[in-house]
Amino acid sequence: MDSGANALIVVSNRGPVSFEWDPANGRLRAKRAAGGLVNTLGPGARRHGALWLAASTSETDKQASKAALLADELVRFWPVPVSHERYHAYYDVISNQTLWFCLHGLWDTPRRPRFDRHWWSAWSSYREVNELFATEIDRAAPRGATVLVQDYQLALTPSMLARRRPDLRISSFIHTPWCSPGELSSLPDEAASEVLAGLADGGPVGFHSPRWAAAFDDCVKAVLGRAAATYVAPAAVDAGDLKKVAASEECEMERVALDEAVAGRKLIVRVDRMELSKNILRGFWAYDELLETRPDLRGHVVFAALVYPSRVGLAEYQAYSQEVLSLAAVINARWGTPDWTPVLLHAEDNYPRSIAALRSYDVLLVNPLRDGLNLVAKEGPSINERDGSLVLSRQAGAWLELGDYALGVNPFDVSQTAEALGRALDSSPERRSVDAGCLRRVAEMRTPLDWFDDLLNAACGSGSGRYPPEQLH
Ligand code: F6P
Repeated sequence: MDSGANALIVVSNRGPVSFEWDPANGRLRAKRAAGGLVNTLGPGARRHGALWLAASTSETDKQASKAALLADELVRFWPVPVSHERYHAYYDVISNQTLWFCLHGLWDTPRRPRFDRHWWSAWSSYREVNELFATEIDRAAPRGATVLVQDYQLALTPSMLARRRPDLRISSFIHTPWCSPGELSSLPDEAASEVLAGLADGGPVGFHSPRWAAAFDDCVKAVLGRAAATYVAPAAVDAGDLKKVAASEECEMERVALDEAVAGRKLIVRVDRMELSKNILRGFWAYDELLETRPDLRGHVVFAALVYPSRVGLAEYQAYSQEVLSLAAVINARWGTPDWTPVLLHAEDNYPRSIAALRSYDVLLVNPLRDGLNLVAKEGPSINERDGSLVLSRQAGAWLELGDYALGVNPFDVSQTAEALGRALDSSPERRSVDAGCLRRVAEMRTPLDWFDDLLNAACGSGSGRYPPEQLH
């Protein structure tokens, strides 16, 4: 293999694009994938002309790769083929229903988790898919290449790869929070050790917040009896790209439509995946309590919730989505009048509409139960045009950077959230202007390229004969 090609490899479960047939010309075309990870990783991957490996269950992806199609003009895409059955076990059962729930503290403990023989069979598939990734990276990477592995779906890949290829420079990055040793101990002992060693023995492990890095280190100490090499790199918004979308015709049309619906009232906005950890129900309960305790606001405020579908194959997400839709309907039935709809709920993936809402809010509600960072908390202030306020969960990784200029909430405390929404709506124009200016400045202090450089620098401290990992500490 030519040592110049593929010198930088990024690896994630979800790829930068999915390919589909264009009915107009019968050719394959690339469609940009949704999600924060792709927006965070994309600019650096493009700048360096990286090769991007991601899981693929589709025949079209395979054909696109045979035809050496580019994911976009600068990034090449290398699909890692995974069968539908194995993908279900690796992605749905282990990555999402197990690791995601554990890291975000989402267990419904009287019922879940349940580590039975079906789970163990899924765990074998998780191992196999991680091994498959290691094999494909091994095939793709020339000697001394740099490999940036992303997220908990691929927690075993970094060490599997480091064992095979000591010449590679590897760093991994976890976009979620990390949990405490006590919470991690709900996983079967063997699985907890594998996940921790899978990451810690494969080079430095990065997080968006020092809090999650410290929690990971605590877990490694408690379970493996040693320290981990970690680094902290908070992700940043691509302000240029956001402003381009904000200035687009589609976004302008959405903004006009939203303005008409809001009709001069105050506007509360949230933009999230339809996701349990985003705490959408308590956001609505808080709004309901606000309308109950503050009769002066009735008829004078609208809550636009833009919650786009996510992990729709999982029963937990389907049930949650139903609860969110019903609760919005209950609030509208309870408080609405012929000329006022208190909640505007949009449950589709419409990026220009989300950006239009972020341009227009008076208050942005970001109240996750726990979140690695929460990019929306930075995107909003970067493009908001009304000096809007931010109500922010103290459990979001972004709290550390933005908390000084936001109204902080305990995400479980509905009354406190209602009160914070009320205070934000009452905020004086002067206060709003000062806070919004500070939020914007902090949100735009770093770029996705700075974040990417942090990952590269971390990787440069690994590999090239510096394995075994004890030498990294
Ligand atoms: O933030 C963690 C993460 O898994 C990212 O990797 C991804 O962008 C997002 O959540 C959405 O998850 P999924 O790819 O499962 O839809």
